[in-house]
Amino acid sequence: MEKLEKIYVWLSISILLAFIIALIYASVALAVRVPTDVGQIVPNPGESLVSAVMRTPPFNQPGIQEVGPGQYKVVVIGQAWMFNPPSIELPLGAEVTFYGTSLDIDHGFYIPGTDVNMMLLPGQISVLRHKFNKAGEYRIICHEYCGTLHHLMTGTITVK
Ligand code: CUA
Repeated sequence: MEKLEKIYVWLSISILLAFIIALIYASVALAVRVPTDVGQIVPNPGESLVSAVMRTPPFNQPGIQEVGPGQYKVVVIGQAWMFNPPSIELPLGAEVTFYGTSLDIDHGFYIPGTDVNMMLLPGQISVLRHKFNKAGEYRIICHEYCGTLHHLMTGTITVK
């Protein structure tokens, strides 16, 4: 009986370890990122999230802004089922700080071939930096299932 108990104890410990390893693998190897705790957009009483986002800087001005030599601020708003702005043009070597949020539900912001991978969450501000060292056309993909037209929620970044 004691031997059986030991087996059970070790079995539960190994299952726990397997979960922890899977968690670490997911966060490190797959580069799954939760939004950084930069800030939140809180609507006033009776105000919709949409109007709260629209009036809160930097989201009152979605798009590209040059903030220094070779340095850009790109403000992106996700909504079902598009990115605002849908296309972004950047010069080669641009050092970009992305600011993102969502107007409605959870969306993703993923650029295949880069380490740009973040969530756009309603009322939550996500920030991520990336330097574009390779010219070309990049696709922006929503990689968080967000409903019927999720698969059509894409955008482009042109680097030249
Ligand atoms: Cu937005 Cu999927």
